[in-house]
Amino acid sequence: MREADPCTIIIFGATGDLTRRKLLPALYELHGAGGMNRSCDIIGTGRTPLTDERFRERVRAAFADAKAPVDMNDPQWRTFEQRLSYIPGDPSEAGLYSRLVAELQSRRNEVGNSNCLFYVATPSSLARSIIEWLGAANLSKNDRGWTRIVIEKPFGHDLQSGRELNRVVNDVFAEDAIFRIDHYLGKETVQNILVFRFGNTMLEPVWNRNYIDYVEITAAETLGVGSRAAFYEETGALRDMVTNHLLQLLTLTAMEPPVGLDADALRDQKVQLLRAMRPMTAYEVTQRTVRGQYGAGTVGGQPVVPYRAEPGVQPNSDTETYVAIDFRIDNWRWEGVPFYVRTGKCLASQQTEVVVHFKRTPQALFARAPEKDLEPNQIALRIQPDEGISIGFAAKRPGDALRAIAVEAEFSYAESFEGRVPSAYATLLLDVMHGDPTRFTRRDEVDAEWRIITPIKEAWASQPARRFPNYAAGSDGPDSANALVERGGHSWSPIARQRSALPDDE
Ligand code: BG6
Repeated sequence: MREADPCTIIIFGATGDLTRRKLLPALYELHGAGGMNRSCDIIGTGRTPLTDERFRERVRAAFADAKAPVDMNDPQWRTFEQRLSYIPGDPSEAGLYSRLVAELQSRRNEVGNSNCLFYVATPSSLARSIIEWLGAANLSKNDRGWTRIVIEKPFGHDLQSGRELNRVVNDVFAEDAIFRIDHYLGKETVQNILVFRFGNTMLEPVWNRNYIDYVEITAAETLGVGSRAAFYEETGALRDMVTNHLLQLLTLTAMEPPVGLDADALRDQKVQLLRAMRPMTAYEVTQRTVRGQYGAGTVGGQPVVPYRAEPGVQPNSDTETYVAIDFRIDNWRWEGVPFYVRTGKCLASQQTEVVVHFKRTPQALFARAPEKDLEPNQIALRIQPDEGISIGFAAKRPGDALRAIAVEAEFSYAESFEGRVPSAYATLLLDVMHGDPTRFTRRDEVDAEWRIITPIKEAWASQPARRFPNYAAGSDGPDSANALVERGGHSWSPIARQRSALPDDE
């Protein structure tokens, strides 16, 4: 791992869920892998009044409680802990920023460390005021090193607020200092979509409307909203998952080849693709989108209460926990090819994948195989879990007759490569420290995403959902999502039941 420049990382929202579950573990990972410079420090900030020691205790407790608990006696852990400190304060008041100025100044004098990385991991409603305060306190300027800012999604809540937030952040920071993070872009398998498409000659001739019938993009989760009800009630599945993660998967699958791998060459093509997706009219929203909310059910053998009964959720909440959309791309390559996208909480299994379905062969030479019609070719890019790629094709069935059967060729990351894959957040944090924006979202990209999503949100707001809840926890989602694709003569791939997600009695 390439070691990054020395810097001070200041996290806004340091006592929150994201810092505990993703940021600190990713920083610990970088620390262990040698990505963090020895004089790189982490300052947490938040409203909770904590001393450095109390903050470290909380981090210790979170790490001990994690899925893969950390051994607190490991010297690795002890040196990491020394990097952590805490400054209490309200991020919407001046006091916190004067304390930060003083702290950064003294670090500059003592250690000579001048680079600064601000990480905004607070609810998005606070982002604007944090950025403005950083500007007012002159913390965005640095004549002795670099200063960068990472902003979490959702980036605003619609086209207008997204533009407004961009205006504010671009007033305070230069565009090359702004890192709008979408952690899906840090996933190895998401980056592999680019390699698979543009590192192989055999795909390009068939990667278009002449050969492809439709594309499915799924991000199914078994988890519910957990302790994030306040965030989720405001955000819903459309803004939480589709605006960013799923549109990113779609652009990487559908964009034109870039002229190079630098940040602008890649992002230019992604923006071009998003601009080819015409925003839907209110009528099209009724025809091409489905929203859902889970009711009671069973996930992984455990009973699940309805979304409306989750702590912190309104008993008559209209928030969608499931979305399915039939997206269209108006360009030469994709005219007429549906890109079906779906995501949901509390579904049968955890599964994120892109499945590309090819057209049937023009002549049905082998179509009368006895058991069933021959499946057209398909390519599944499995993002998680069980990362890999499978290609479905026809093979001769052993025996006298010339009969075909559908088989699959498999590539599995776990079987082909040894060693741990870096987590998405570790990859992206290291990119920020190296100043590489390639895997981050550019200003015009955020704008183009909101142009597509805002009309859907507005059409839904004008017609509150009447049939919520409309799918059982532990199912594949609402029936209306099947109807959405069946209209085009297509079907969703079943959300595979992994063993761990099977109810006990199945
Ligand atoms: C986050 C969403 O961005 O992505 C969560 O806010 C969601 O609601 C998560 O659970 C999914 O990420 P992953 O990496 O588990 O697929």
